[in-house]
Amino acid sequence: APYYLIAFFSSYLLGSVPFGLVITRVFGLGDIRKIGSGNIGATNVLRTGRKGLALLTLICDSGKGAVAVMIAFLWGPDTALIAALGAVLGHLFPIWLKFKGGKGVATTLGVVFALSWQVGIIACLTWFVTALTLRISSLSALMAMFATPIAVWFLHKDLQMVELTALLAILVWVRHHENIRRLIKGEEPKIGKKK
Ligand code: G3P
Repeated sequence: APYYLIAFFSSYLLGSVPFGLVITRVFGLGDIRKIGSGNIGATNVLRTGRKGLALLTLICDSGKGAVAVMIAFLWGPDTALIAALGAVLGHLFPIWLKFKGGKGVATTLGVVFALSWQVGIIACLTWFVTALTLRISSLSALMAMFATPIAVWFLHKDLQMVELTALLAILVWVRHHENIRRLIKGEEPKIGKKK
């Protein structure tokens, strides 16, 4: 049990590093929370027009989730699941930003990749197929999150992993409530558009 607590809190701290905010600030773009959707993620960094920085944000935000899970795997698969939850909660509710964080897409993809690369590929493919056809980042994320627990079930038949990924999917969906409202109204901007 103490391992679980240590894994949870260290993963939470790692997950709570807001790379999109740090990277855009370091490169002199001001506060990303005042641009576009106001989100701190790669999609919104792309709205600054800086593709490289958006990619860097994506890599760092997913990388922190993957690293947290890979380290926790040293203590076993149960600890890895706890670390996955900790890292995503850290990104969604970072202590440094008064618990106002991101939407958790990149970090969830990172933890999913580290838990199962096969499921990671399915989640990313779902994201890309949706993004290439409909060109909306949030909708692509919602589809990828929906596909993830289903893919886990078919590939691994591991109930705990299904529960964990379903919980992550619900968290990400809830954090997209404003996007969902815009999607329903047909007002959600296309990828890369300033809005
Ligand atoms: O990664 C978050 C994405 O799904 C939506 O971002 O900035 O369009 O709200 P945004």
